[in-house]
Amino acid sequence: MTPQQKVASFRDKKGPGSIAALTCYDYPTARLLDEAEIDVLLVGDSLGMVVLGFPDTTHVTLSHILHHLEAVARAKPKSLIIADLPIHTYDDPAQALETARKLSAAGADAVKLEGGIRQSEKVKAITEAGIPVCGHLGMLPQRVLEEGGYYKKGKTPEQTKALLEGANALLEAGAFAIVLESLTPAAARSVTKSISIPTIGIGCGDATCDGEIAVITDLLGSYPWFVPPFAKPEAQLATQTSQAAAKYLQRVRAQATQERFRP
Ligand code: KIV
Repeated sequence: MTPQQKVASFRDKKGPGSIAALTCYDYPTARLLDEAEIDVLLVGDSLGMVVLGFPDTTHVTLSHILHHLEAVARAKPKSLIIADLPIHTYDDPAQALETARKLSAAGADAVKLEGGIRQSEKVKAITEAGIPVCGHLGMLPQRVLEEGGYYKKGKTPEQTKALLEGANALLEAGAFAIVLESLTPAAARSVTKSISIPTIGIGCGDATCDGEIAVITDLLGSYPWFVPPFAKPEAQLATQTSQAAAKYLQRVRAQATQERFRP
């Protein structure tokens, strides 16, 4: 299936529970998530924190995303692969298009960028070149330094109005879906109802968007040093990893009591 064919089926995915999306940064996880029939694999810039050990996403470069995207694409998943445009790789429409083309060549079916009205010319440039774009509104991790932290959005009528305007601008520019991050449930519902393309929520509450996205380490319980309050882990891989390492260590140390093998 071409990226355009994969994306075409997305436009109808309106209604709670229509899209299950997860972040994905490597080949084995991509194979497993594809086998589990997850709809979207996002090579998100959250990889900066949960894989590369940076404090936030502002340290992520295009080379980082390309490296991980190529690994995910090698799994040839049926799932839609979306890749993030990292900070300062889409400062103007020409640069945005150049970056999107590199991500597309590396295996992305679609790309994602953060922001609403101020990004509409960039979204237009990319979609007109035939590369599908997913928007991202609400709490924008690439703006964490300007905003001085991660804050919930849609708490006031003015904020909700700005979100609605942003969503419409993205829709008109040709976006096929929009990630809504950390909106109040009421604001997320209102944006979702107001646009014809699907919304994919994170930290917006249950059944407020058409789909849900989670950072894979939050689902697997494999990054215990920071767990967002809305995370719902379905596994405890950090604990299992520590236990497996401790057992292995014990097994190796126990060899000290065994006689050395002599040929
Ligand atoms: O990079 C990422 O993981 C994201 C999700 C939080 C939506 O953009």
